Amino acid sequence: MVSGPASEKFAPEDARQRADALRSEITEHNHRYYVLNDPTVSDQHYDVLLRELEALETEYPSLITPESPTQRVGAKLGEGFQSVRHQVPMLSLANAFNDDEVLAWYARLKDALDQETVDVIAEPKLDGLAVSLRYIEGHLQQGATRGDGTEGEDVTQNVRTIRSIPLQLRTHTPPAELEVRGEIVMTRSGFRRLNEHLGEAGQKLFVNPRNAAAGSLRQLDPAITAKRPLQFYAYGAVTTNTQLTTQYAVYQWLQELGFPISSDITVAKDLSGLLSAHKQFLRLRDQLDHDIDGVVYKVNDLSAQDELGFVSRAPRWALAHKFPAQEEVTRLLGIDVQVGRTGALTPVGRLEPVFVGGVTVTNATLHNADEIKRKDVRPGDQVVVRRAGDVIPEIVRSINTDQAKRSDPWKMPTECPECGSAVEQIEGQAAVRCTGGLVCPAQRKRALEHFVSRTAMNIDGLGTQVINQLVDEGLVQTPADLYRLDKETLMGLERMGDKSAQNLIDAIDQSRKTQLDRLLFALGIREVGAVTATALASHFGTLEAIAASDAQTLESVPDVGPIVAHHIVAFFNERHNQEVIEDLQALGVEYAPVERHESGELPLNGQTYVLTGRLESMDRSAAKRALETLGAKVTGSVSAKTTGLISGAEPGSKYQKAESLKVPILGEEALLDLLRTHMPDTVE
Ligand code: IVH
Repeated sequence: MVSGPASEKFAPEDARQRADALRSEITEHNHRYYVLNDPTVSDQHYDVLLRELEALETEYPSLITPESPTQRVGAKLGEGFQSVRHQVPMLSLANAFNDDEVLAWYARLKDALDQETVDVIAEPKLDGLAVSLRYIEGHLQQGATRGDGTEGEDVTQNVRTIRSIPLQLRTHTPPAELEVRGEIVMTRSGFRRLNEHLGEAGQKLFVNPRNAAAGSLRQLDPAITAKRPLQFYAYGAVTTNTQLTTQYAVYQWLQELGFPISSDITVAKDLSGLLSAHKQFLRLRDQLDHDIDGVVYKVNDLSAQDELGFVSRAPRWALAHKFPAQEEVTRLLGIDVQVGRTGALTPVGRLEPVFVGGVTVTNATLHNADEIKRKDVRPGDQVVVRRAGDVIPEIVRSINTDQAKRSDPWKMPTECPECGSAVEQIEGQAAVRCTGGLVCPAQRKRALEHFVSRTAMNIDGLGTQVINQLVDEGLVQTPADLYRLDKETLMGLERMGDKSAQNLIDAIDQSRKTQLDRLLFALGIREVGAVTATALASHFGTLEAIAASDAQTLESVPDVGPIVAHHIVAFFNERHNQEVIEDLQALGVEYAPVERHESGELPLNGQTYVLTGRLESMDRSAAKRALETLGAKVTGSVSAKTTGLISGAEPGSKYQKAESLKVPILGEEALLDLLRTHMPDTVE
């Protein structure tokens, strides 16, 4: 540890020693902070050391060395970048898009090497840009982009600003020459902040972190690059070090020399090991703070790599097994407004079809008018569409090339596009709602869809198309009308043959015998989801008892608060709803007697969950409420008794804690599955 006040005056020789000591201490802290992610001092302490060094170097400029941590940001480049010829070409990778292509590659390896099994490294394919870093006698001498693989651009001044790149190797016995290759990426969190800044300044936004990383590295002013959240990961070396026999050993050596290496690199022993590593990285994908777009497999044994050699510009010993892209750019053709079951108006973007996240997407949600305004998304724009996991596709942002050619900002209609009724703001929310109620055909259609859904009356064969026709042709107004349908009427519908009409009649007939909680849920009372319906059913036992209860009595049921109670009372007071219920009963809809539990056992009773990281589909408090509604406890810290840790993107230290205690870690998908299973109306 270096000690002594910053203001102390030194004799020149003492000053040199002090500067040396400060430099190595600061460099060490840099390494701990940027490479190991494990700082041991506060930012303030670090700043004090840096300022002292700066003061010393100002007083004695002859003490400055090129590797001094004060020398990361150099002067502006006058002209463009010089071109650099790579001493050894920078190759590209062959791609595999499915398991069969990996299988074929692995079979070729075994064949060519005449081995039963081949050890292969699996590591993330980083979605950034490749660079090469040349070190002479341990000093960073040149940084270059990949370019066309043969010739790149000299970006030395810019790579020097990236704190995770050592200016000097961490060894007393550096190799005479070493070329380290790797990827420069921009962190996702940094990318979001950068785009926010650029947006506020009225500048063009970057499409994705990869473009932002490339744009940031190719700045003529290194001071700009220095401010960008860039990170380097090493994945290869051109070296004469003959002690190294495996790719894995190369990584360990590079790590010792001070370079960051991707975490979770594994060595697989066979094909199934490779494929399971691919699955593992796919799961990890959303938790990382940088984009990865696949897994790179590399034969571990270096002499085997030599033996296998290259085809055209890609090595035979490596393969990139790609993930489906999560973000793509397409054109927003228009913005439609959908009317939901409760009348809520949701703007939905109509897109030029685009393949993203493994499916072709033609519609993506835009949530509400505020969101559209904030993102300034307009019909005709080029937009970034994101579909991560099974989450609903979303329009992330517009990329506006020509401001003048854009359409006017979009406005939410003031009348319901389906029935022309006035639109009102939902209290306390950004959303608006059609006031038409059941006059509105859209609300009627969605209410019917809900009524027949799997967890409600479970009537198979009544999809959106059929329901739309039934309502549009005036054949069905209320759920009760479904039980008045006959086969002949159904056969008059489009694409409805004899057999499907009969099946549908049978399905409707079967649904007459149901359970109280299903029927109650099917009625679509606001805020009464499947779980609340179950609690109400087991508490009261009959529909009549629920309908006759006042708000206070209803609130004695666990999970029923004043708002829910109000909606229930209002529903049963409505003349129209009473008629529908009477009709249903007259048409033979009946439920089995209910076993009553005053306490209401809930599906997740006895389970404890902890949440960490950022969830895409809901915020953490919503996730907590949903779990608690199902009877689970949600606590703030992981213990051996925790049922599961639910981990979103960028999880905190709870993640390691859960790993060390062997507590199951569930991703957002698993959470959604859990919620879908037990409360199907809350997750779209
Ligand atoms: S190895 C000879 N490893 O992918 C092997 N490349 O398609 C060449 N990339 O230009 C590179 N992550 O920019 C390697 N773990 C990784 C990588 C990786 C990303 C990029 C790299 C390269 C491109 C080839």
